[in-house]
Amino acid sequence: QRKVTTHVLSEMKHNKEKIAMLTSYDFSLAKIVDQAGVDVILVGDSASNVMAGWETTLPITLDQMIYHGASVVRGVKRALVVVDMPFGTYQGNSKEALSSAIRIMKETAADAVKLEGGAEVVECITRILSAGIPVMGHLGLTPQSIHKFGTYTVRAKQEDEAKKLIEDAHLLQETGCFGIVLEKIPADLAKRVADELTIPIVGIGAGSGVDGQVLVLHDMLGINQEFSPRFLRRYHNLFAEISGAVGNYIQDVKSVDFPNEREQY
Ligand code: KIV
Ligand code: NA
Repeated sequence: QRKVTTHVLSEMKHNKEKIAMLTSYDFSLAKIVDQAGVDVILVGDSASNVMAGWETTLPITLDQMIYHGASVVRGVKRALVVVDMPFGTYQGNSKEALSSAIRIMKETAADAVKLEGGAEVVECITRILSAGIPVMGHLGLTPQSIHKFGTYTVRAKQEDEAKKLIEDAHLLQETGCFGIVLEKIPADLAKRVADELTIPIVGIGAGSGVDGQVLVLHDMLGINQEFSPRFLRRYHNLFAEISGAVGNYIQDVKSVDFPNEREQY
């Protein structure tokens, strides 16, 4: 089982083999996800929502992302591990962007970083790449700039926004990104980007015409019940599963069924 590298992902696009990507935030689940054979594990700043319970991705810190990243890397043997650069650690300051990316790579032993934006962050990306750190882009719905948009609705439906997205995608490729995540944009636009670009395009809510798919692990496992956008396919109802198990445990404790004779010393 060879380790997935950015080169392997590029080969996969070339061979029209789809890339399966999921998020993870901790050692135990990352180990399961990796052993199941996922190609890329994203330590997403969605940890801010699903791990910490914040409303947005903005509050999570670099130290917290590093904690999640290092935990995931210790559980992974095969998948390429990408760590999100959190809000406020790169925007508008390429020197800070580089030192943040270096901290992530040194302290987590991850394989790459991901950051949000197009033209605005090209200088940051160039500087990070100069240190030999692979960078993944992220366009379309970019949750770190939620306060600029005010909603999590589909992006780039208007022609001007679509045009900027296509330009940004080309710019990210020219700058040297090894891949791009496209979030919540029309499927035909996402397909056009994937067709025009030579680097792998991984979609979330971007249709099937791209080179791979990514979902938030806790969403696809059905751990949280509130979040149900159209693009989310739930592969399990882990909320019900866990809730049932915990309910049984409570019953067994109350009825002194647990622990039994064999479960004590
Ligand atoms: O943080 C995250 O989970 C992400 C994915 C939704 C792409 O950026
Ligand atoms: Na993210």
